[in-house]
Amino acid sequence: MKKHVVFIFLILLIGLISACSNDESANTIAGNDKSSRAITENDVFQKSCITCHSSGDINGGEIKLDSVKIHDDFKDKSSLYNFVSNNMPKSAPGSLSKEEYQAVVNYLWGQKK
Ligand code: HEC
Repeated sequence: MKKHVVFIFLILLIGLISACSNDESANTIAGNDKSSRAITENDVFQKSCITCHSSGDINGGEIKLDSVKIHDDFKDKSSLYNFVSNNMPKSAPGSLSKEEYQAVVNYLWGQKK
């Protein structure tokens, strides 16, 4: 009976230890992400825009980011950049870095068909 209790205790302990170390490695990866990994265009869209503009396909989603509409609404890339960097993400305008805005604008503008 006593052995049984010790065994359960050990299992719980191992679970606790691995939960903690998982947390740590997740933090480290997130930290590295910001500082050393190159930002790709699609990354920014997936991370900061997809919640409202739905799928990676800019034609999908609730508020459609339609490549044709974008090119109708913005006459060139710099006006798109100005709009996006001043107004998006709608929930936190201006919250991305210059590089991130540039990347996501390149991504959207590049969707022109
Ligand atoms: C919290 C929701 C939300 C997020 C996140 C968000 N948007 Fe928007 N976006 C909107 C809404 C709502 C509109 C409609 C115009 C308005 O209300 O300003 C819009 C409009 C746009 C438009 C104009 C489309 C057109 O053709 O007129 C662009 C471009 C755009 N968003 C790009 C982005 C980009 C790029 C990101 C990520 C950096 C992003 N949005 C993140 C809600 C959001």
